[in-house]
Amino acid sequence: MRVLVTYGSKRGGTEGIARQVAEVLRGEGLDAEVRPPKEVEDVAAYDAVIVGGALYANRWYRLARRFVHRHAGVLREKPVWFFSSGPLDSSAVEGEIAPTHQVQALMEQVGARGHMTFGGRLEANAKGFIARAMAREHTGDWRDSGHIRRWAGSVAAELKARQEGRPIPVEPPPEARLH
Ligand SMILES: Cc1cc2nc3c(=O)[nH]c(=O)nc-3n(C[C@H](O)[C@H](O)[C@H](O)COP(=O)(O)O)c2cc1C
Repeated sequence: MRVLVTYGSKRGGTEGIARQVAEVLRGEGLDAEVRPPKEVEDVAAYDAVIVGGALYANRWYRLARRFVHRHAGVLREKPVWFFSSGPLDSSAVEGEIAPTHQVQALMEQVGARGHMTFGGRLEANAKGFIARAMAREHTGDWRDSGHIRRWAGSVAAELKARQEGRPIPVEPPPEARLH
């Protein structure tokens, strides 16, 4: 099963999450490829798609948004998952953070099967006026690989069940997944 993992990442943090997600999928025997949105030639060639977006002022970074708008017709026909990144604190591992209003609308547009918010990363030397101001208060790498791996594992389990024609596994409640 060919899975596309694509991302809209301004400063590389979300790209790193996309790479970890794909690594987990490959470990589960799925043929996962990571591609920046602009390098995706044919979405129809994939059996499933995962799209990640960096959150800026509660909205996905534009490359992720544009990818969804541009390919909405094809995405609606496939199993699709979204992830967002992210809060610069431990909130994403303390409880499941719902998609923002805009991300929820994108999910509805393509009938996405699920969403997860992961912690983000902001480096102290971030470029840009607002980012620098923000970095005075919040810096660090809040991406939690356990969190990322658990979620990617649950997506892989569902994809493998589909592939083998088995019933789709039921997700445990968030508390069970986090501890
Ligand atoms: C100007 C600015 C605005 C941000 N707005 C949000 C936000 O609304 N919600 C959030 O959870 N994180 C927010 N963040 C944190 C980023 O989402 C986090 O740094 C993320 O990891 C960036 O991903 P990237 O490295 O892939 O661009 C913001 C960061 C900056 C610099």
